[in-house]
Amino acid sequence: MPLTEQALKNPVAQAVYAGLTADRKYLPAWLFYDEKGSQLFERITRLPEYYLTRTERAIFQQHADSIIAASLQIWRNANIGITQVPALRILELGAGTASKTGILLAAATRAQGPTSYLPIDVSASAINEACDSIAATQPQVTVEPQIANYVTGTLDVPTHNGPTLALYIGSSIGNFAPSEAAAILRKLRDQLQPGDTLLLGTDLVKDTAVLERAYCDSEGVTEAFNLNLLHRLNHELHANFDLAHFSHAAHFNTAHSRIEMHLRSTRRQTVRIPALGLSVLFQPNESIHTENSYKFTCESIADLLKASGFSVAETFTDANDYFAVNLAAA
Ligand code: AVJ
Repeated sequence: MPLTEQALKNPVAQAVYAGLTADRKYLPAWLFYDEKGSQLFERITRLPEYYLTRTERAIFQQHADSIIAASLQIWRNANIGITQVPALRILELGAGTASKTGILLAAATRAQGPTSYLPIDVSASAINEACDSIAATQPQVTVEPQIANYVTGTLDVPTHNGPTLALYIGSSIGNFAPSEAAAILRKLRDQLQPGDTLLLGTDLVKDTAVLERAYCDSEGVTEAFNLNLLHRLNHELHANFDLAHFSHAAHFNTAHSRIEMHLRSTRRQTVRIPALGLSVLFQPNESIHTENSYKFTCESIADLLKASGFSVAETFTDANDYFAVNLAAA
């Protein structure tokens, strides 16, 4: 049965229809982030097993001043003859609540005083939270938010007479397959000028057990985050998923260098989704693939950046080489 006219206009309905009628069932990772899902993700970032957020934050704390200084220097080198460098602005893709960005904004205001911050995110509530927390803590920062989907839509960066430092941090790029990731970065590159820079935060390949624990924590927060997807479909599409009969699974796929998360049906069952006019049959152990989280090496990061029109200028990592922050020139 085809989608009703009403469902056709709803991006959630469209995505669920496509994913659950596919040969190998899947759901896109952006569906995780309803209000409850965003709260669960915030909890994930504080879990002992989830080293990503805290490691990237420590890299920023140690190197924020060098990152700002290097960005300004790259711009000077590309714009010789301009002795008075205009103010650097900071743009952020997928800003979310911008909890780590404050460290870089503080470094920019130390270096130059007043600084513009342009967060771009699909979530209006996340952007509002970002604006509020930055307004409260950083009086020298002016926030110019943009609500936009830079993955499916176009990216429109207002022109600026001076350097732009674009942030794509938190290993957000890791949710995308290599070709999609390159397309997103290329879209960004097309909006930048010579001498502008990109700061890209990416999780690195490491011991499989360490990787898998980060996505299967002992408190079950990641499990709740994954299962919340089904709860969301029950709520928004009036589906009747029985959460007791799906289990959380996360494993490292070495061939693709990615953590895969799945929701596995523990028995044969049929789920009804009235808003889609759909009945979905699950075989025992059949899974819904809910997320890819790609893990990088220094080489794969450099290749990705090169393929999208950037060149690596500086690489910052932690002592364990768990996470990488790369500054690249447009
Ligand atoms: C927000 C995409 C970086 O892949 O680590 C955390 C999302 N999924 N635990 C990641 C996530 C499960 C996260 N990213």
